[in-house]
Amino acid sequence: QDSDRAKIIEAHELTIKLYHHILNNTKQGQAAKHYLRERGMSDKLIDHFMLGYAPDEWDVLARFLTKRGFDPALMEKGGLLSAKSDGSGHVDRFRNRIMFPIWDRDGKATAFAGRLIGEGQPKYLNTSETMLFTKSRTLYNLHYARPSIRKSKQVVLFEGYMDVIRSWSAGVKNGVATMGTALTEDHGAVLKRIAEEVIVCYDGDDAGQAAAYKSIPLLERAGLKVAVAMLPKGKDPDEYISEYGPEAFLRDAMDQPVSVTKFKLIYSRKNHILLKEEGRKNYLLEAVEIVAELDSSTEREVYLKELSREFDISLDSLKQDCHQKRQELQKKKPQGDNNDNSWNNGRNEK
Ligand code: UTP
Ligand code: MN
Ligand code: MN
Ligand code: MN
Ligand code: MN
Repeated sequence: QDSDRAKIIEAHELTIKLYHHILNNTKQGQAAKHYLRERGMSDKLIDHFMLGYAPDEWDVLARFLTKRGFDPALMEKGGLLSAKSDGSGHVDRFRNRIMFPIWDRDGKATAFAGRLIGEGQPKYLNTSETMLFTKSRTLYNLHYARPSIRKSKQVVLFEGYMDVIRSWSAGVKNGVATMGTALTEDHGAVLKRIAEEVIVCYDGDDAGQAAAYKSIPLLERAGLKVAVAMLPKGKDPDEYISEYGPEAFLRDAMDQPVSVTKFKLIYSRKNHILLKEEGRKNYLLEAVEIVAELDSSTEREVYLKELSREFDISLDSLKQDCHQKRQELQKKKPQGDNNDNSWNNGRNEK
């Protein structure tokens, strides 16, 4: 119902202000504020992203909303309150957490992510699925990033909220993140509507790199061009900025995204022990398979030449293997795919 939706959005807007006020101006919010400071969050950033604090109490928000005439049952549906198990009323869903408001792509406030101060589980708690909030379609910061994405036709995809916020302050205005769930086909479609290219900048740890690897075919199927910005030393963007500063982050990661092929080669390389002959051989076979996916023979040759030089294998034999892999790939392709050019939009063939 439209009036229910409007009420839930209005309640979120008020709640954002309440939590923001508690963070900035109350004793209860001091520890949270201190934590954010320590993590390099300026007042300007805290204001821009309207970060807040949900205090360690049961019903601050429940009382606040009820006093303003909001129906607690509807607020439960909207994800702000939870019903008490004995049916005697409602309590706040978020307690003792740093609050990240989530706006939909039109800038309507529809959800929250709440982070524990310090360690513990679960680190982040999100609003559950509601009539206004679908995780599989939502991208954090899309409403702010939209103008910059439209202009550059590029979007940067991060893993976490903190990564989006810190890189925003480093000058990356076209960054978004998923809601802690895996990237979906729907996300791909949402991005394809406003962008041509996605720069995937996931955490530099193994989990992040594996997630980046998985995101590539999904984004390519959506018709997007893909490149990968890799972070040295297993750090995530937020950690990298804290440790080395914003300029280093731009220089070392953002300014030199690698092609999908290059990324896959680096990824595969890490899984093989190149000091052993067996490892070298297996890496080479996998590398040739990766290169075989390229539709441009010039590009294929560039990579094969590099491999030929590094491993002292003749270019001819690499080309032969590559050719064979390509024929296998052609056979594997589903019927009818040859008539469909959309999957190859702007990729490879010049
Ligand atoms: P990370 O573990 O990389 O967290 O998870 P982070 O973004 O670096 O968080 P900080 O820097 O410790 O504050 C990446 C993303 O996965 C989701 C969140 O969206 C997070 O930003 N996540 C993670 C959850 O939803 N729940 C969790 O318990 C942990
Ligand atoms: Mn403010
Ligand atoms: Mn991570
Ligand atoms: Mn991280
Ligand atoms: Mn982090």
